[in-house]
Amino acid sequence: MKTVTCTAPVNIAVIKYWGKRDEKLILPLNDSISFTLSQDEMCAKTTVSISPTFTEDKFWLNGKKESLENPRVQNCLKEIRRRASKRKFEGSDENVWSWHVHICSENNFPTAAGLASSAAGYACLVYALGQVYGVEGDLSSVARQGSGSACRSIHGGLVRWYKGEADDGSDSVARPIAPPDHFPNLRVIICVVNAGQKKTGSTVGMKQTVATSSLMQHRISVSVTSRIESMMKAIKEKDWPTFCDLTIADSNEMHAVCLDTFPPCVYMTDTSHAVASLLHKYNDLKTIESNINHKVCYTFDAGPNACIFAPEAVAEEVLALLLQAFPPPPAQATDDYVKGIPSQPAT
Ligand code: PMV
Repeated sequence: MKTVTCTAPVNIAVIKYWGKRDEKLILPLNDSISFTLSQDEMCAKTTVSISPTFTEDKFWLNGKKESLENPRVQNCLKEIRRRASKRKFEGSDENVWSWHVHICSENNFPTAAGLASSAAGYACLVYALGQVYGVEGDLSSVARQGSGSACRSIHGGLVRWYKGEADDGSDSVARPIAPPDHFPNLRVIICVVNAGQKKTGSTVGMKQTVATSSLMQHRISVSVTSRIESMMKAIKEKDWPTFCDLTIADSNEMHAVCLDTFPPCVYMTDTSHAVASLLHKYNDLKTIESNINHKVCYTFDAGPNACIFAPEAVAEEVLALLLQAFPPPPAQATDDYVKGIPSQPAT
């Protein structure tokens, strides 16, 4: 029997992936850019075991036995086994690719609440399967077939997922573009506005957007393409204020196209908007103080929870402001999903 345990952190997109050109292969309509958080905070942990004596594949998620029928899990498993079957192994390990697998996966933060749980989960699953079946090389295109955004959690730091051009998805891969400490001393504050499962999952939300939003056509053909280039430039030049402005603009555009769908996909709540508004006031103050390098930025995935990037020098102050403006209910733990430093890939 061979057993491997891996962890993979979530990644937070600063230029969002929203909309697919191929549903089955999970090929996006646009490039996206993200930050992979540190391993110590929000991450998935997966243990996989393979053995010639196992009689079937089995899967547990957060302690509950789950069906392995899920086509996305199957796609990842099939692709890893296909790649493993092409490798040469010594002696008794020769048919390792045909051994059944037992998978046990857990997240240390709410699942399916718009906190990128599937990104960490599939990156971790694919990385662990790759290790246990002895598959080498780029795994981002396999993780992508589990959940698009998962391909970015294969790498640490700032990562770009290239949409690619090929019909088979072979060039739709994630590549690291800058190390975790590129913007030094950066803190991430996650405001859990609601830890419940989102009403409209990202797959349905994206489909609805592509089918019905005319604003989406503008996003894809004009705005997101130029924003990607501006973001690459801001990252290259370590231009933090521009990085902040672009991050905020892209989050708002993603939620605007969601509202432009029919029926609308509403992910942000009044509290989410109040958090955004507070941070705009904070940034206005920093501009008046001529301290634009202490600006902060927010971004929202397909859910109401805010992810805030803040320079360390102001992170405590921003956190204190948030806790004052939005005091957590007494019964709720406050220390669960508060901070992390963008840093590492799946290990
Ligand atoms: O990978 P999915 O299907 O969970 O979609 C993720 C979509 C967003 O989180 C909203 C944006 C992104 O780029 O991560």
